[in-house]
Parts: sequence; C-alpha cells; structure tokens
Amino acid sequence: MPKVTVHRKAHFNAAHRLYREEWSDDKNFEVFGKCNNHNFHGHNYELIVSLTGEIDQETGYVYDLGKLKRIIKIEIEEALDHKNLNLEVEEFKTLNPTAENIAVVIFNKLRKHIPLHLEIEITLYETPRNFVTYSGN
Ligand code: NI
Repeated sequence: MPKVTVHRKAHFNAAHRLYREEWSDDKNFEVFGKCNNHNFHGHNYELIVSLTGEIDQETGYVYDLGKLKRIIKIEIEEALDHKNLNLEVEEFKTLNPTAENIAVVIFNKLRKHIPLHLEIEITLYETPRNFVTYSGN
C-alpha cells in the first residue's frame, strides 16, 4: 500500500523565559536575547502534527484525523495553552522551554497515543519565520 502523510494543525499561546540559573545576567542576555526577559513573554505557537504510514485498506485512512484532533486537544492544548511554561508545566521546571525542547515534549506526549507503525513528525513554529521539526531521532 502507498505510504501517505496526514497532517493536523493546532495552535496554542504560551509564555516562557529562557535562562540558565547558574549564568550571569549578561551571559543569559547574550545567549537568549529577548527570550531571556525576566518577566516572561508570550509566543503564538503553531503546531503541525504529521503522521506517516500505509493507507488502511478497510477505512482508506492513514489515521483518523478527528481522533488526532481530540488527542492534540487533550494532551497538548489543554496542557500548554495560556500557560506559563516555566512555572506551570512540569516538563519545563528543569528544562529550558525552547521551541526545540517543546517539540520533543509534544512528540513524547503524542507517541503514547499513536500506533507504533505510524511515524510522527512535529513541526513547531515559535514565530512565523522560526520553526523546528522533530521526528523522534
Ligand atoms: Ni521567546
């Protein structure tokens, strides 16, 4: 059967601050720039979840996108939307909430729900021009 990739887009707003406690203010600013702002700041994150696999002969689907929508809503949007990632999301209490790390956290949350024969790729936009991809490697 042909392999097809299906995609689902989602969105969340969240605040963060990038810093390392053991670094000086100057070094933190040099490395993280505006994202080091002490009082946090928000981003409008755009998420694309892509699943690749063979088309199921019975349904004609790779994966039911309605089901994927519900999983993303519960696992990602309800966990991250309108949250301060550093203060309110367990995973980022000890992990810098960069787009890279957020993509890995999202991947791991979804992997538990998606059948193993499907490959997952996460595309996460932190700004319209800055985005990362992660597919579990
Ligand atoms: Ni930022």
